Amino acid sequence: MKRILAITALGATVVLALTGCTGSTGSGSTLVVGFSQVGAENGWRTANTNDIQSAFKTAGITLKFSNAEQQQDNQIAAIRSYIQQRVNVIAFSPVVETGWDTVLKEAKAAHIPVILTDRSISTKDKSLYVSLIGSNFLLEGQRAGKWAATEFAGTSQVNMLEIDGTTGAAPTIDRKTGFQDGVGHDPKFTLVGEQDGDFTRAGGEQVMEAELKAHPDINFVYAENDDMALGAIQAIEAAGEVPGKDIKIVSVDATHDGMEALASGKINFIVECSPLLGAELVKVVKEVAAGKTVPRRIVTVETTFDQAEAVAALPTRKY
Ligand code: AHR
Repeated sequence: MKRILAITALGATVVLALTGCTGSTGSGSTLVVGFSQVGAENGWRTANTNDIQSAFKTAGITLKFSNAEQQQDNQIAAIRSYIQQRVNVIAFSPVVETGWDTVLKEAKAAHIPVILTDRSISTKDKSLYVSLIGSNFLLEGQRAGKWAATEFAGTSQVNMLEIDGTTGAAPTIDRKTGFQDGVGHDPKFTLVGEQDGDFTRAGGEQVMEAELKAHPDINFVYAENDDMALGAIQAIEAAGEVPGKDIKIVSVDATHDGMEALASGKINFIVECSPLLGAELVKVVKEVAAGKTVPRRIVTVETTFDQAEAVAALPTRKY
């Protein structure tokens, strides 16, 4: 099934300029790509890494891979190392949005094209990367908010805890904004607590445990990913409450573990965010290497799941 929708904007001129003036860009099995991954912080990230590594293996393209352990400094060091090694293309999933201009200007000066996967960066210089492949995080937040607006339509007061992803990361910023849009900025959604859970299960559990002590009246959790929701479930159960009933939960990703929690009623709704970006990344790498026009933005097509849909989808879920 086709899972990727390409939207073309700029790109052609930039790609041709970057690849045309170097003479260093290889093709087929001579290509070498350097990839800097955010980390291994949860099930989504592991699935993303596995998918990318397997897609490059299948394509016969050499992939140099590094795990930044959720540290921007590690990603910058990895990118500098790829520049020194004169790889043909650099790809990375930026841990946070800002602070990339200096190192990406070094890549540009070395005539090495850069492709972003999964997360965007904030820069005024659009020539610093040729394409971004990944989800629409704003839409994901809007979908979560719309579900909450419908679910709590007959409720006059909602005491909400928001468990954020990594501070400064694109999905954290956009999913928060999108959620507020989705609930129509309705003041009955009172944000009684909000903390960074760093997109990890342990982070979600710690935040939930602390916030439940401070605000025992929480009746709704918006977790910005499944792993943080799964951590929150552990803390809710430890406090003697029933996740999905006493405290309703919406999250984002639709990983296998998240979908099992949804199927069993511990999570109430999940907005999908697909980590399966490998095939599209290989395609764009090949096109960039061949000096072809590439779409400036490639948006992953995704859906949402309620409990019945999770039960139906689980047997064929790929991650
Ligand atoms: O950038 C994608 C997000 O990052 C996923 O929702 C999350 O699980 C990961 O850590």
